[in-house]
Amino acid sequence: MSTLRYITAGESHGKALTGILEGIPSGLKISSDDIDGDLKRRQGGYGRGGRMKIESDRAAILSGVRWGKTIGSPVALMIENKDYKNWHEGMSPLAEAEGSIPAVTRPRPGHADLAGAMKYDQQDIRNILERSSARETAMRVALGAVTKRFLSEFGISVGSFVIRIGNQKTAVKIHDMNEKELLKTFAKAEKSVVRCPDEAVSKKMARLIARAMKEGNSLGGTFEVFVTGVPAGLGSHIQWDRRLDGKITQAVMSIQAMKGVEIGLGFEMGRKLGSEVMDEILYTPLNPPLAKGGRRGGKVSGDVGTCFSRKTNFAGGIEGGITNGMPIIVRAVMKPIPTQRKPLRSVDIITKKSIEAAYERSDICAVPAAGVIGEAMVALTIAEAFLEKFGGDSMGETRRNYDSYMEYVRKF
Ligand SMILES: Cc1cc2nc3c(=O)[nH]c(=O)nc-3n(C[C@H](O)[C@H](O)[C@H](O)COP(=O)(O)O)c2cc1C
Repeated sequence: MSTLRYITAGESHGKALTGILEGIPSGLKISSDDIDGDLKRRQGGYGRGGRMKIESDRAAILSGVRWGKTIGSPVALMIENKDYKNWHEGMSPLAEAEGSIPAVTRPRPGHADLAGAMKYDQQDIRNILERSSARETAMRVALGAVTKRFLSEFGISVGSFVIRIGNQKTAVKIHDMNEKELLKTFAKAEKSVVRCPDEAVSKKMARLIARAMKEGNSLGGTFEVFVTGVPAGLGSHIQWDRRLDGKITQAVMSIQAMKGVEIGLGFEMGRKLGSEVMDEILYTPLNPPLAKGGRRGGKVSGDVGTCFSRKTNFAGGIEGGITNGMPIIVRAVMKPIPTQRKPLRSVDIITKKSIEAAYERSDICAVPAAGVIGEAMVALTIAEAFLEKFGGDSMGETRRNYDSYMEYVRKF
């Protein structure tokens, strides 16, 4: 059983989303403000549909926290769906409400609609689309925010930025960046309407989205997630399901509409010579030694608490399934949003006649939001690996274990 586990429940237009996170040690300071900031970031970004105007997500903490601190019991969160007032009959759990809204019978290509209806034996596709919708990711972001708060106690930060929307791409070279540069790039991206650190490209991306909006079309793109301050030694090479790169890619790939996930230089590695992409190892003994949790200098610093460093970070902070002390770098590609105003051909599941696919109010481009969800999934995965390595039922115990390991690693 894993040290940290979580599960979500809730339909897109149901009463609320709920989530349970088990395994956070006692004594972590947390408030709903720590969570709501990320919920707001997830709702932003140019290209979102009408729903974002209705919803202003806030997390209610139902359990696991008392007087501002975790108590070691499962943390349960709830996010109300403000739109439920318009759906209380359509999404009612009561048998009497059956038939209060028409069934959805026209599956949308690119969605779970048809495969889900077949699998779960449903004649009303709403019973599938309500859960397959990415609305569920609001709860993942909320749970991820709790783990971000936990990781920040150990100097670990998680961020993301958009690098591509459609054919517009920025040339940021993430592998050459040290921690400081990564955080600076992140701060720039946070100011952009599309969460892209490049101002000129941001404008082009926004124009592209505006055009797709006008034409009733949709767009996808690519985002990068980074993690700074990660100590060497999370994850393991000893078994396939303990490799951290495998866990991260699964977590990020599980986000709706993700079609590819890379670590570090990723697919580009296949086009290079070995000599070009291995991160050569340097050793600089320090006198006096590094302060606790201290960082090394160097071209790509970020190597946490050790005398070993690298000039580059093509590996994206993971070698052999184990963190090597460099920033973790993850990249994911999102396909264009399947629901489009310009309808696609489909077949009615009842009449079997060729028709136009159903249209529900929809985003045009959600890559900026997907980056925030990516951060949450990576934070949850890193927090799990961190607790697996250091354990601890209280923050004090986790801290002692962490400090003693860092002391050892510093001298290695
Ligand atoms: C943040 C975010 C927002 C999304 N918004 C929409 C949307 O408004 N309309 C839509 O059809 N799909 C949207 N999607 C994508 C679908 O949820 C996804 O394509 C669908 O569930 C099928 O899953 P698959 O693409 O992974 O196969 C969104 C995805 C994310 C991550």
